[in-house]
Amino acid sequence: MKYRHLGNSGLEVSEIGLGTNNFGSRMDPDQAAGVLNAAIDLGINLIDTADIYSHGQSEDYIGRALGDKSGKRESVILATKFGMDWEDGPHGQGGSRKHIMRSVEGSLKRLQTDYIDLYQFHRPDPNTPIGETLRALDDLVRDGKVRYIGNSNFSAWQIADASWTAATERLAQFVSAQPEYSMLVRNIETEIIPACDRFGLGILPYFPLAMGVLTGKYKRGADVPEGTRLSTMPAARQESRLNDGNFSVIEKLEPWAKDHGHTLLELAFAWQLATPTISSVIAGASNPDQLAQNAAASDWVLTAEEKAEVDALLDGSPAR
Ligand SMILES: NC(=O)c1ccc[n+]([C@@H]2O[C@H](COP(=O)([O-])OP(=O)(O)OC[C@H]3O[C@@H](n4cnc5c(N)ncnc54)[C@H](OP(=O)(O)O)[C@@H]3O)[C@@H](O)[C@H]2O)c1
Repeated sequence: MKYRHLGNSGLEVSEIGLGTNNFGSRMDPDQAAGVLNAAIDLGINLIDTADIYSHGQSEDYIGRALGDKSGKRESVILATKFGMDWEDGPHGQGGSRKHIMRSVEGSLKRLQTDYIDLYQFHRPDPNTPIGETLRALDDLVRDGKVRYIGNSNFSAWQIADASWTAATERLAQFVSAQPEYSMLVRNIETEIIPACDRFGLGILPYFPLAMGVLTGKYKRGADVPEGTRLSTMPAARQESRLNDGNFSVIEKLEPWAKDHGHTLLELAFAWQLATPTISSVIAGASNPDQLAQNAAASDWVLTAEEKAEVDALLDGSPAR
């Protein structure tokens, strides 16, 4: 496994990370522990979760698994999130000091740890000044409860605003951004990637496999394979991923990858890692075998020419 610095920070994260929004919703504690321990054994150190994933279950399963694997906590980068709808009523979500101070205690307890490596603001809160959020996060960093802070689902102007606010108020800076990004969803290329480059944030793309579509296991006109993520979703959500536009792109990418001795899955990871701003690709995995395939994908380093060839295939596609 290779490691990259997370943005301008000193934190080194594995090029392949582990997303865990399926812990609790689709995996029980034993299955989650199996995948987590396999990740550690493969050298994957970045574990991404959130308080709202199955309302705390994902964090809880990670805490239990790390407790069983004693001595491993230190080698893992635990990245969690706050700010999405935890409960109804005032301060049940968002970026207020009150919500943050309560949320962090819940996450620390469920994760069975006394510090969070990367605490991410899950989505912007238009009703709370970013200065209030950053000051509360800065206090957590000074208290040692949090080591680094990041954002998620921020627009480019919000990244710039937060960076300037932190600089002028002398507060901890966001070191990471977590937007959706894959070969099928590329809108961050115009504004967000340049903003992250300018302000020194590393990107942790979510849905890097487009929920599994970029594994190649879904085929045009074929039934959705049983037991897969998309098989559990309503028809409209399936259609948003399994549509003619996406299949047209996949049908160009898959032969290109094959001609280069690789699979579509490997290309999905290697293409992301060809952009230096991408620090770690945090794909979810249903079992240790999937994880091992994903970890191995980072062995393929695309040349600049190969990256340009793939981009040209994508540029001509309707998916952008
Ligand atoms: N910040 C945010 O707002 C936000 C939003 C969503 C997600 N996230 C984070 O991003 C992470 C990644 O997103 P994601 O897991 O939802 O989507 P994803 O990484 O695009 O897709 C993961 C799914 O693809 C399938 N898969 C993975 N590796 C495979 C392999 N080698 N062979 C075959 N199938 C494979 C698995 O599903 P099946 O086996 O069931 O097909 C797996 O659950 C999440 O876990 C979460 O931590 C963040």
